[in-house]
This record gives sequence, structure tokens and C-alpha cells, in this order.
Amino acid sequence: MKALVLAGGKGTRLKPITNTVAKQLLPVANKPILCYVLDQIKEAGISDIGIIISPDTGPSIKEALGSGSLWDVDITYILQSEPLGLAHAVTTARDFLSDSLFLMFLGDNLIQGGVSEFVHRFTSETPDALILLKEVADPRLFGVAELNGQGDIIHLVEKPKEPKSNLALVGAYLFTPEIHQAIAHIRPSWRGELEITDAIQRLLDTGKKVRSHVLEGWWLDTGKKDDLLEANRVVLDELIQRSVEGEVDSQSEIVGRVELRKGARVQNSTIRGPASIAEGCQIVNSFVGPFTSVGPGTIVEDSAVEHSVILERSHICGIERLADSLVGTRVSIRKTGDKLRAVKAFVGCDSTLEL
Ligand code: G1P
Repeated sequence: MKALVLAGGKGTRLKPITNTVAKQLLPVANKPILCYVLDQIKEAGISDIGIIISPDTGPSIKEALGSGSLWDVDITYILQSEPLGLAHAVTTARDFLSDSLFLMFLGDNLIQGGVSEFVHRFTSETPDALILLKEVADPRLFGVAELNGQGDIIHLVEKPKEPKSNLALVGAYLFTPEIHQAIAHIRPSWRGELEITDAIQRLLDTGKKVRSHVLEGWWLDTGKKDDLLEANRVVLDELIQRSVEGEVDSQSEIVGRVELRKGARVQNSTIRGPASIAEGCQIVNSFVGPFTSVGPGTIVEDSAVEHSVILERSHICGIERLADSLVGTRVSIRKTGDKLRAVKAFVGCDSTLEL
């Protein structure tokens, strides 16, 4: 069995940050989302992995993952020259996939507990496809499945205006080579993309066996700012253990499950977990509160930060409350006037905010 990871999308809904950082490399608890995806594929026992990349962000993805030796897997990079849809990505990977069964995993999706259980079910029950579904608040943003009373799939629609259910298609799919035939028969959707949802519908229309599983645990699709903050919150809450390897002076307090990596320094500050402070950070006269990840080399001075993700080498200075924020790399946010301010920011890389 092989895996195909889709990491070619543009990340339009996360602009401006994705102008300079591939969305699949955005960190959650100071680790790129794509690395969790690789963890879960490896855990499911698959080590032959194709990764779809785009001309823009492909080089940074290759640099981050390399040959896959960190996971003890083989990575083949496959260039999709234009973002023409998930089904188009499968066609682009046809040589790599050959006639294998495969797990297709979107590089910006996180699934609680991983995919091992579904890979196992797929290989033992041998349907033509197995899809994962999850109840969501606004199904109009996703592919949506309509099931009958027995739980069989009747119909799938991509981003319906009037959804027939609240069951969204999760970004992990299991396919046999039948999917290639189905893709050959579909046309681009209104958004100009070859939709994998339409290809699965084609499998149903031609009498193939498509099974589904409704996820009980969380599923995080990190396509937008608030989704990324939510992913950061959930992963910090679930995975972070207390590990204080950086330097902490006697005026500081590290409370609860805080990961303070080597080379980070905390002076006259409080860090309240769950939180992750990366290598080389300096936290001075500040409060870093729950559900916050601070990227490598970032400085937080005379500020309070909560429920936020800050990327590398940024500088937050004199901000009384920075909350619910996503801050890019090398960003400077500093207070110049006297008035107290609460700041909620979504700032791309290399920006300066003087407040
Ligand atoms: C894609 C699929 C959609 C699925 C979603 C999951 O949407 O087309 O069916 O529900 O991923 O993340 P997109 O991210 O391309 O809008």
C-alpha cells in the first residue's frame, strides 16, 4: 500500500501568511502540520509516500521533509504544475501510484488517533473506496455525504449550497486503482477543479463499493486562521508534556504543561501551559498564556500573549494583550503610544505594526 500526500494547495484562505510560508508547513505546537501527517502515515504502516508539491512551495516542503529518513520512509516528490484539483493531483501521481491501493491524505488535515484503524478496515473488507466523514457546523464549506437509514452513501456533493446532511468529507481517503477510471470520466467543477468528491460519486454511479466511517474524535482542517488556532489549542492540550530545557531565572514561573526548548530564555515572566516555546526564544517581563506557541528565535518583551501562534524570529514588544492571533515570521509588533491596547492580529511575514 502507498500513500499520496497533497501539499500543493495555495492556501488562499490563509493569506497573507501563505504568501511566504506553505500552508502545510505552518506550525501547530511548534511542529509543521505536514509532519503530523507523516507521523500518522508511518504509524499506519505505510512507508512508500508520494508528496504532491507545487512550483511555488515545493522547494520549502522538500527542505522540511528531505528524503523521509527522519520517519524511516521513502518520499517521492511529484510536481503538480497547476492547482487543478484533488483528482487532478491523483492523475499527476499515476506513475508513482501504479496499480497500488493507496491512502490519500491532505497535507493540512489532522485526525485524532490517526488512520491505522481505517487502513486496516480497508485492507480487510476490500471495498473500492473508504471515506471518512465528520459532523460539522457548516457543511457548505466541504464535500458532503448523504447517507440512507442503513448508513450507506447515497450521494456526495462538493460544497453544496443546500447540504443534505452535516457530514463532511474528511481529507483522508482510501482507494483502489478503480479511482483512476472514475477520474477519467469526470469534468472540472464550477471552481475549475477536478474534484475527488465527483470521482467518488462516479464510483457509486458505476456500482462500485464505497464505504464510509463517521469519525468520533476531532478532525482539524487547518485551512483558515481560526482553524489553525483551534488545531494549536487541541494539539497543545492533548500532546504537550511538561519539559523545561531552556533557562528560567528566579523571578519567573513556569506553570503546568509547558514545553520550553533548549536555548530559550525566560526572564521575570510567567508561562502558563499548555504552551510551547521554541529554541532561541526570549520571554522577558511578560506573560505567555495557555494555548500559545512561540516559534524559534522570537522575542516577547513587556507583553502578554494568549491563544496565539507566533512564527519564527518575530518581536512582540509592549503589547498589553495579544490574543487569538496568528503572527508570521520576522514580524515586529510594538507599542509606541501610551494607551493600553488589546490586539488581535493576523499578520503576514516581514511586517511591522506600530501601535
Ligand atoms: C477539499 C475537498 C472537500 C473536503 C475538504 C477536507 O476541499 O474538496 O471535499 O471536505 O478538502 O479538508 P478544499 O480544501 O479543496 O476546499
